[in-house]
Amino acid sequence: MTAFNKIFEAARLTRIAGEFGTPLYVYDEQTIRTQCRNLKNAFEGLPVRFLYAVKANDNPHILTIMHEEGMGYDTVSYEEVLLGLRVKSDPRQIFYTENNMTDQEMEAAIRSGVILNIGSMSRLKSFFSHPGSRECSIRLNPGIGDGHHHKVDTGNRDSKFGIRKDLIPECARLAASHGRKITGLHLHIGSGIRKPENLISAMGVLIEYAQYLPDLQFINFGGGMPIPYQEGDEPFDLAAFAMLAEKVIMDDYMKRDSGFRYYFEPGRWFTAQAGVLLTRVNTVKDQGNVSYLGTDTGLHHILRPALYDAYHAVVNLSRHDAPGNTLYTIAGNICESGDILATDRKLPESAEGDLLAICDAGAYGMTMASHYNRRALPAEVLVNGDTNILIRRRMSAGETVDRHLSDTGFQQN
Ligand code: LLP
Repeated sequence: MTAFNKIFEAARLTRIAGEFGTPLYVYDEQTIRTQCRNLKNAFEGLPVRFLYAVKANDNPHILTIMHEEGMGYDTVSYEEVLLGLRVKSDPRQIFYTENNMTDQEMEAAIRSGVILNIGSMSRLKSFFSHPGSRECSIRLNPGIGDGHHHKVDTGNRDSKFGIRKDLIPECARLAASHGRKITGLHLHIGSGIRKPENLISAMGVLIEYAQYLPDLQFINFGGGMPIPYQEGDEPFDLAAFAMLAEKVIMDDYMKRDSGFRYYFEPGRWFTAQAGVLLTRVNTVKDQGNVSYLGTDTGLHHILRPALYDAYHAVVNLSRHDAPGNTLYTIAGNICESGDILATDRKLPESAEGDLLAICDAGAYGMTMASHYNRRALPAEVLVNGDTNILIRRRMSAGETVDRHLSDTGFQQN
């Protein structure tokens, strides 16, 4: 059972594809809101707040939904900061986790008033030496990582992220000597966490190191809550996690002022299951050993399968009631043999013109899309009750090429 079956009806998606064309990302607003509320409810009554990791899906219409649900924004680039500021949030609700930030970006971040979360000693020194700086948060490398793939494990001790644990007392001394404050302590152990116990252990480590920081006002435990992509994937047991987390949090909170806050900042959790990528089969090809369904999308629109061997369920919407009796590999239209969206999937016998849904694509789909092969980006539609709203228009091939020519300053003769 894929998330798709619970959220969208095949007939509706077929109508939407007919109206807006393919390739097309479709998101369901109610699902996003339900995910928000489930998380808020699990921590109700606790001094816990949530930020939305903008990188998962940064369509401004989705950012607006998150804002309405009371989320601040977790951002990781100055561009995301600007986007957050322009969409709605006030700067104090924007958390900016820098990663190899430039001096210019630091300058701009300080001026914008967002909360800067610093991940290296050298950047911390330059921040404290800046005349405009007052306070910041720091990111700790807990030496505990997790994630659905080694490329998204950020908490292991060799990863590029975070300040080494043994340097935390030095951070505190540095702040004091510059008359500055470290008001926040952060970690993020990875994305699509497999073992929630790892996050709980890392939270313990973070709290242990919090003792070195006398000016703390909040602790941020990052994101990483997984969603089930594949039949047999256990859904994340939010209630069980919240129970373990509550104990860690409340043991610490007892020693804190009442205004002290704890944060989580998931991205995938909120939007992944709310989205599908609709694509049309334009080629059916039998290569002898492999039967391919060739589509009008590819790794330039959904990179996760190529980059992480990630699994996304695929449904043939044109024949969703027929038995899945034929083995297909779903290929994209990018000129790379690695452009495979799904391998050896049992689908009904399919034909050119069929409409496929690539499921659970609402997070890290569109935000990781590119113009590779100079292809156009997909359009996006937000479904809300009975209405379907176009939230990114489709650019034609001609417009895409014209944009490229004009951005590169090329003069056509
Ligand atoms: N906070 C920080 C500092 C992060 O770096 C990330 C994700 C998050 C929060 C949100 O993590 P989430 O709750 O979404 O797992 N492109 C990969 C995921 C990379 C995530 C990078 N950082 C994917 O498609 O699986």
